[in-house]
Amino acid sequence: MEIAAQDLSGRESYRLMIACLVPRPIAWVSTVDLGARTNLAPFSYFGGVTSAPPIVMVSVGRRQGERKDTARNLLVSRECVIHIPDRALAEKMVATSADVGHGVDEFELAGLTKVASTDVRAPRVAEAAIAMEAHLERHMEVGEGPNDVFLLEVTRFHVRDDVLVDGVPDPAVLAAVGRLGGTGYCDTAAPFSIERPRPPKSS
Ligand SMILES: Cc1cc2nc3c(=O)[nH]c(=O)nc-3n(C[C@H](O)[C@H](O)[C@H](O)COP(=O)(O)O)c2cc1C
Repeated sequence: MEIAAQDLSGRESYRLMIACLVPRPIAWVSTVDLGARTNLAPFSYFGGVTSAPPIVMVSVGRRQGERKDTARNLLVSRECVIHIPDRALAEKMVATSADVGHGVDEFELAGLTKVASTDVRAPRVAEAAIAMEAHLERHMEVGEGPNDVFLLEVTRFHVRDDVLVDGVPDPAVLAAVGRLGGTGYCDTAAPFSIERPRPPKSS
């Protein structure tokens, strides 16, 4: 199959993109609005950008031309918490993607517990093994939507002790969830390992 991107409708392009870019990590993002109302939603257009400082990217589409709550909240509060959902939390994570009114608290909707964060006003999901407190570094509008693309600088990592091996999260213990095409998901419970090529020895 060979397709010119310009021949695809928006819907077709989305279907193809999410089936080709697999697996995608999921940023499960909590934010607050100006009235301190909390919001929680998952985003798989998510990736690492830099490590020093730690910066990640989250891309939020529009809903019927309007900004989603996460994008609106990020633009006014300029901070959030990004959680990495694991297999045990996958159903609750998906439940928080429901298209509900601005005033609806997805923590309550999914039966999740809030914990106060240290650097930001948005609360953390107590049940999540990894949570990253972050500040808005940059916002860009990209594409025809346009999408709201956020660069978020992580200021604090919270990692639950039981997923740590040698001081970092172990993917097999964590079983982090990835999004595939359609309604598909995978997890990192069975990773494999490959050694990188060694640089040639100088003679
Ligand atoms: C696993 C998963 C990944 C998602 N990824 C994205 C994404 O990358 N960008 C996006 O705009 N919406 C994405 N969505 C849809 C949003 O979660 C959904 O529109 C949600 O209602 C937005 O919530 P908000 O209005 O509270 O911000 C995803 C949904 C799921 C279940």
